Amino acid sequence: MKLTVATTPISGQKPGTSGLRKKTRIFMGRHYLENFIQALFDVVGAEGKTFVLGGDGRYFNDRAAQVILRMAAANGAAKVIVGQRALLSTPAASHLIRLNKTDGGIIMSASHNPGGPDEDFGVKFNMPNGGPAPESVTEAMFARTGTVSEYHIFESTDVDLSTQGQQRLGDMIVEVVDPVADYADLLETLFDFDAIRALFRGGFRMRMDSMCAITGPYAVEILEKRLGAAPGTVVNATPLPDFGGMHPDPNPTWASDLMEEMMGDNAPDFGAASDGDGDRNMVVGRGIYVSPSDSLAVLAANAHLARGYRSGLKGVARSMPTSGAVDRVAKSLGIEAFETPTGWKFFGNLLDAGRVTLCGEESFGTGSDHVREKDGLWAVLLWLNILAVRKESVADILAAHFARFGRNYYSRHDFEALDSTRADQMFATLREKLKTLSGQSFAGLSVTNADDFAYHDPVDGSLSQRQGVRVIFGEGTRAVFRLSGTGTEGATLRLYLESYAPGPGGLNDDPQSALADVIKAAHEIADIQGFTGRTSPDVIT
Ligand code: G1P
Ligand code: ZN
Repeated sequence: MKLTVATTPISGQKPGTSGLRKKTRIFMGRHYLENFIQALFDVVGAEGKTFVLGGDGRYFNDRAAQVILRMAAANGAAKVIVGQRALLSTPAASHLIRLNKTDGGIIMSASHNPGGPDEDFGVKFNMPNGGPAPESVTEAMFARTGTVSEYHIFESTDVDLSTQGQQRLGDMIVEVVDPVADYADLLETLFDFDAIRALFRGGFRMRMDSMCAITGPYAVEILEKRLGAAPGTVVNATPLPDFGGMHPDPNPTWASDLMEEMMGDNAPDFGAASDGDGDRNMVVGRGIYVSPSDSLAVLAANAHLARGYRSGLKGVARSMPTSGAVDRVAKSLGIEAFETPTGWKFFGNLLDAGRVTLCGEESFGTGSDHVREKDGLWAVLLWLNILAVRKESVADILAAHFARFGRNYYSRHDFEALDSTRADQMFATLREKLKTLSGQSFAGLSVTNADDFAYHDPVDGSLSQRQGVRVIFGEGTRAVFRLSGTGTEGATLRLYLESYAPGPGGLNDDPQSALADVIKAAHEIADIQGFTGRTSPDVIT
């Protein structure tokens, strides 16, 4: 039976960089999820439409899926394709949206944020192209949350999501699908599985840390079953509602077990980790960490070695705070390089228009035009494909890359859970003094230019302003300041630091020492200590 429930708007349901993300208990509050989903359907329209639904398996994923299905039915949707047990990695959801030519999809995840009753939950909408909804759509949803006065929900028992196949919920079809199969088939079209199989047969050892999150089943199927990696290659392979207490963010801080293993005496040849919903990746060689910006550059320089990219790249794109390493590769390949604001949604138009093939962000996100999300396992497989063809170690490949293109020393410093008012004041002050910075010196570095990044989308002409403050100290050296759009506690300052050194550079140089002056200058310019009381970051990547 279809019910219409009277409700009142709930404040603060504003989707950020990646949809609506809040503490799980807030999401579980009365009408909270329902209000947002109704606003979402009111904006995108549900009548007669087909959607994909799935999530990363975190706490409340299963309950939220039932609510969303019942609301889709009551709002007139024709069909929802849902991953078995309501599971889908973000890239797999993106693929299913595209493969089935659906009208979009709803992904339940708070990405790399911890999960559990006291941690985070999230919901985001992806468009028919498989990519995150653009700002115009998320803004409309937000506006609608301010006026929603009723929602529609079908009254029924739970849909059985444990078995594959079709069922009905009122007039709506619910199709429960294998979350892994179609996605694994897609990757098989892009990479030379035979070459990678031969690599593993030859004794190549790998450790893939799925961090008790969604990529476990995908990685076991692809790496161990289809590619013949040794059983046990994938660790923390079972998705758990609280990610086993782990913080499923693949960086050296949170994937410290993997880092320790890779830096140890008996390290495998290759290590990788992925995040809560499977769109992020970290790669590590034996004894060597690969920064995401360098990884993007190496992948761009070598992508032609993999089957799906043999005919070369159309262009590349990186988010503004990502290092310029990939730009140097693009230049040598004679292809376009785009600089976009932070957030995967800004790559969508470039990918749809066929202007770029690869894109990436410093925040452990890499992907291509095969889906419209970043894709953790895709990046891991492209690396494996390159390693299988070049038959060199990760360290050798990186050293050769730096020798050819020079090295962009890079680091991101995060200052978390700051007082939001003080953080806003810090940015207001910083923005005010932007025009006067040029020519001034800080920590011995002279500012050549400073601005607040604005992006004109070359495809649809839209303008996105205030996307991060950039202070440039000559060619290749800069500090970038941004406030996070995904944090759920106070404000998070992200400080991105970069300096370029032509020539090989020491492979094992510590970026923190190479960047010492830029770090000092950045602190002085923004008076980070004065506004936040902090002298050092909580997380360094
Ligand atoms: C963070 C990352 C950004 C990424 C986003 C979603 O956003 O910095 O690159 O696209 O998560 O994964 P932020 O918290 O900085 O707004
Ligand atoms: Zn993610």
